[in-house]
This record gives sequence, structure tokens and C-alpha cells, in this order.
Amino acid sequence: MSDPRIHIAELAYTAYQVTDLDLMERFLVDFGMKRSARTDDTLYMRGTGGAHHIHVARLGETNRFLGGAFRVETRDDLVKAAKLPGASAITPITEPGGGERVTLTTPGGQTLWLEFGAETLPELPTRRIYPLNFHGSHLRPNRPVRQKKEITPILRIGHYVLRVKDAPAEVTWFKTHFNVVASDYICGRHGKPGHPETTAGTFMRLDRGQEFVDHHIILINQSHLEGCHHSSYEVLDLDAVTTGHYHLVAQGWQLDAGYGRHYLGSLIYDYWLDPFGNRVEHYTDTDLVNDDYEPVYFTGGAEDTTQWGMAPPPSFFD
Ligand SMILES: [Fe+2]
Repeated sequence: MSDPRIHIAELAYTAYQVTDLDLMERFLVDFGMKRSARTDDTLYMRGTGGAHHIHVARLGETNRFLGGAFRVETRDDLVKAAKLPGASAITPITEPGGGERVTLTTPGGQTLWLEFGAETLPELPTRRIYPLNFHGSHLRPNRPVRQKKEITPILRIGHYVLRVKDAPAEVTWFKTHFNVVASDYICGRHGKPGHPETTAGTFMRLDRGQEFVDHHIILINQSHLEGCHHSSYEVLDLDAVTTGHYHLVAQGWQLDAGYGRHYLGSLIYDYWLDPFGNRVEHYTDTDLVNDDYEPVYFTGGAEDTTQWGMAPPPSFFD
């Protein structure tokens, strides 16, 4: 029987409204993105991958999160999406990159775009990765590390994190309509493992059975706040995260937390605030999991979410 769920292929981008596109572009260039297109009122930034853009900033009078976009596997997925309650019709995208989209609103009021048929661009060259020489597993024989002090290129967008007031309803909606499954659950000290109504956060990945996929493409968090907690972008390796960190320090941008190693997903993270207060992460070394993976019901406190490195500030856990 065919799967009635809409099949997400990958996260496409997140979009923000900001009051100054020049300032946003300056930050994003230092963060490792490149301009893909810019119109009078919108900035489209890309990584080194083939996606036309992975970050959209629209000029406006206030600063706010606008929504997240997933690319779907086939046009039939857009047809399915357009039948969901409250969905828009399939609409041509008359912006750089093109394609078609369906606009949805999640139960928590978050805007979600599903897109198909967008233009892709030639990938941009990157340096080779620097494997590490571990005791008993030397992965870089005869090959010194020669990492320049420079902007660290962003490769692609990996995940984003939503804050909603009813996380269980949001998670149920995503699991019902899309090919996502839970990887791990944040229960907190007062949550009961296995009881979704007490779950404070759910990491969800693409449901591809035995195929290994990123530990999460989206995390849904229970919060008194609403919107995007952070958007997150993959870089090449450990030297890339740390080089990017010190480049951003040198440019005077605002560090939020990092770098460090998360517990859930195991990512080596580094969080920054863009000039408008939006949190963005660049990371490497996320867990890859498949349907043999046993979900963790995490009952630790905030201080336990970091295995090593600079711990996030209290505001990170709002
Ligand atoms: Fe993240």
C-alpha cells in the first residue's frame, strides 16, 4: 500500500523578516554563506551545496521568524499537501529559484512551506576534510592539517527547532502528515519517559527505514515562547567549526554558546546570534541513525545537554 504521508526530501531553508538586509548579509557572509540572489526586499543566501538558497531574509519593519521550508520528494507530495486542512493551493514561486509551493500552518501557528521543482546551482568547491589521527585509528597518514584562518563555508541547512505552546499536538501533526519519526525525547527532570504529554522536546528525523539519516531534521520544543529557537547549518569538520568560531569572534559578532558537544544527537555545536537576535548554529559530526536506533528519553537537566565545551546560557532553555 502506498504511504499516505507527504514525503519530505530535505530541509530547504528558514526565512526571517529583518529591518536591515545589508547588515544581515554582512553577518551571513562572515557566518559562511554566499549571496545567491537579492531583490529590493529579499536576500537569498546559499551554502556550497546545490540548493539555490538555504536562508531567506525579507525586509520589514520588525524582526521576526517567518517560517521553514521543506523540499518534498515528488510533485504528488504537493498534491497531497494541498488537501490538508487550511492548506493553500499549489502555487508557482515567482522568486529566485522558482518551483512550486504549498503553504501550511502547523497546529502551533507556525508557517511551513512545502516546495518542489526549485532550480539547483552548481556546487561550490570546498577544501578536503581533515580526518583525525586517533590512537589506534590514524585517518590522516602523511597529511598535515593546514587550516587557514578564514570564513568557514556553510555546506547546507541541516535542521531547525520550533518552539510551540503545545509540543505534543505539534509532534502528532508532523508524524501524521509527514515521513518523520522520533529519534530522541527531552523529558526533563519532571517528565515521564514514554509519556508524550510530559515530553518537553522531540527530535525527529526522516523516516527512511534502514537508511542512515541525520539524527534530526526538526526538533519541536515545548515553550512559553513561539517561533524558531535556532536554524542549523552543517560545516565540513571539527577544524571548520573551530575556525568559523574564531573568525566570528574576530569580527565582533555575538556568541551565544560554543563550541561544545551536545548529548542528544552528539553534534559539535557553535551557536551565534545574528544582528537581529536570531540564533543560528553551525555544526559537524552529528549522529546518523536508522530504524535500529533506540530512542533516548532524556531526563537530565539543562546542564546535562552539553558533554563538553561552553554550555548554553539560561535563555537557551526558554
Ligand atoms: Fe541544533
